[in-house]
Amino acid sequence: MNRWYIRVLLVGLPVLFFPFRSPAPLIYHLGEGWIYESPSGKEASLDLAAAQEAAPAPAPTKTGPVVLTIKAGEPAAKLSPMFYGLMTEEINYSYDGGLYAELVNNRTFKDRRDPLRYWNLVQTAGANNSISVVTDQPLNDVLTNSLKLDAPSASAATPVGIANEGFWGIPVTPNTRYRASFYARAAEGFTGPLTVELSGPGAVLASARVSGLGPAWKKFEVTLTTGSVPASKDNHLVISTGSPATIFFNLVSLFPPTFNDRPNGNRKDIMQLLADMHPSFLRLPGGNYLEGNTIATRFNWKETIHDISKRPGHQDDAWGYWSSDGLGLLEYLEWCEDLHMEPVLAVYAGYSLRQVRVTPGPDLEPYVQDALDEIEYVTGGQNTTWGAQRAADGHPAPFPLHYVEVGNEDQFDRGTNSYNGRFAQFYDAIKAKYPALQVIATTRVTGRTPDLIDNHLYVPAGELAMESHFHDYDSDSDSGRRSRNGPKVFEGEWATQSPPRSPTPRMADALGDASFLIGMERNSDHVLMESYAPLFVNVGNPRSGSTGSMQWSTDLIGYDALGSYGSPSYYVQKMFSLNHGDEILAATVDNVPTRDWVQTPGRRGGAAAPRTNQVATVFINATRDSKTKAIYVKVVNSAGQPQDVQVEITGVSGIESAGQTTVLSASSPDDTNSIKEPQKIVPVTAKVTGLGKTFTRTFPPYSVTVLQLQGT
Ligand code: AHR
Repeated sequence: MNRWYIRVLLVGLPVLFFPFRSPAPLIYHLGEGWIYESPSGKEASLDLAAAQEAAPAPAPTKTGPVVLTIKAGEPAAKLSPMFYGLMTEEINYSYDGGLYAELVNNRTFKDRRDPLRYWNLVQTAGANNSISVVTDQPLNDVLTNSLKLDAPSASAATPVGIANEGFWGIPVTPNTRYRASFYARAAEGFTGPLTVELSGPGAVLASARVSGLGPAWKKFEVTLTTGSVPASKDNHLVISTGSPATIFFNLVSLFPPTFNDRPNGNRKDIMQLLADMHPSFLRLPGGNYLEGNTIATRFNWKETIHDISKRPGHQDDAWGYWSSDGLGLLEYLEWCEDLHMEPVLAVYAGYSLRQVRVTPGPDLEPYVQDALDEIEYVTGGQNTTWGAQRAADGHPAPFPLHYVEVGNEDQFDRGTNSYNGRFAQFYDAIKAKYPALQVIATTRVTGRTPDLIDNHLYVPAGELAMESHFHDYDSDSDSGRRSRNGPKVFEGEWATQSPPRSPTPRMADALGDASFLIGMERNSDHVLMESYAPLFVNVGNPRSGSTGSMQWSTDLIGYDALGSYGSPSYYVQKMFSLNHGDEILAATVDNVPTRDWVQTPGRRGGAAAPRTNQVATVFINATRDSKTKAIYVKVVNSAGQPQDVQVEITGVSGIESAGQTTVLSASSPDDTNSIKEPQKIVPVTAKVTGLGKTFTRTFPPYSVTVLQLQGT
């Protein structure tokens, strides 16, 4: 069990102790109050303590259909317009080797494990040329490592050069224009030319030449255009000389076409997957990456702006690899702009993972000021210091901003409980200068009332484990960060974690994720925002730790150098995000089937011995678009049998006979998508008839359905 796994369990502890409610009755939010509906239909108040203590009831035998009553005439709660969003950090090669379209790996020769990592010398066998990384030929103050190519034996017949392997491959597609650039200088007397090539096994796929080198650093830019070559990824970027030379290189870069043609932009395919989700916000950057192991390795936003040649990059020691910071603060914001989502700006709060903390008071002041400056960079006019810097960086217009999150998982700041003081200092300063901003806390605080609290929930996959969290937000008890009596909630990181080392979830995990999401969405007047985490994983070399491309298993979207795919949980997010309207409808669900769920000793409330509980296998909610009167019924059937649901809708004058279903299903809960089978499990949309104010529908085994009805 590695360190992060232990940590995940700790994140989950508060909720793992949360009462499991047995058995069939579901609890539905009805506007202001709560009703606990027993199978007999009798109303009772919910007694959480009793529910927690009660011995698990034997599995009720359910026969006949689930009975769903949607009370569309009763006052409905408002569904949060911000509910569906994204969380991001540099983990699993999310940006470098991921969304950020740069194809050269270790472009500034700063990889901590080996500054020459991913670089090779190209020469004929036995020749005595060399490459090395030197620090006496810096490009500037921040790019201080340069690659020195010593090529005494180079000739037209035996060129000598440098080659980069990319992020587990360099993708080449037919009829595509790539932009290569680099800084170079050469010993006196050598002016070139240099050949720049995209080179595949045994073939040159695109080529260009530059000349004009001299003793001073100079930037070179070329376009490499491929012809009708097959798509491939086992390629290299090669820069070579056909005559003897000593050449220094820095910031060697290669970009394919990017989303919205941004010069320092993002991969088209991954951006399209995200765009298809219609996310409303991006929590940036979240996670351990924001904090770093030490203050020096935090996400220091001021070092991620300006031209990329002015960005030093930093060791992402939270996840064990170098971050180029090519995707820096402005690029995050442009990512938001491209996908029409709002940033949720996470600011460093004076705490880093190795229990490094800044004492509240004067010592913390510079970090508070950094946060205020960051907000100004995002929102300020060009007449402000940081707004002017943003304009100089290429974006004169300010960005919208409503939410600022102070830190990340500060419950791990153990011993001193400094978060109360740190949060208060940030909160006061932010509210004083930007009173309209909503300030999010990462754990419970005293002294100030945060506008929202960011809850995290990672649940190791087990028999219906995430499904047992369906009711997490139904409670209005006074205790617990999931109580509806507390501050509004941002569920900023959550996921079912597939068995070890699965890069992306299986259908079984997606079923659990969908049930939790249904539970949150029907409480989305309280849970204002949610984002699955982590978002990305490079599966090009999914070896563990810092040697591979995956540091954290079970991520929403996978990709290698050439392709990408959405997991079943990705499709759940997409289906739900596209189909919800703005009202949560009151509903009751009866005759719900359950299954045994065995709690392992020592887990989930600390049972002394294995304990069998019951957990539902069908999860349902109903929402409505108040303008169009479309009603969305979301149904999870996590069992291996088809499930009939008898629907009655009250409080509407009519329901049209024709509607639509979107169904995500699999023949086995272990089925999943992968880079080889990216579309094995995808939602299927179909027109349906036979709907009305009462009807019965059958939901397939292992399925997630959005049934769209049209109210009249
Ligand atoms: O999402 C992976 C990690 O889980 C995040 O970096 C951290 O916030 C949480 O512990």
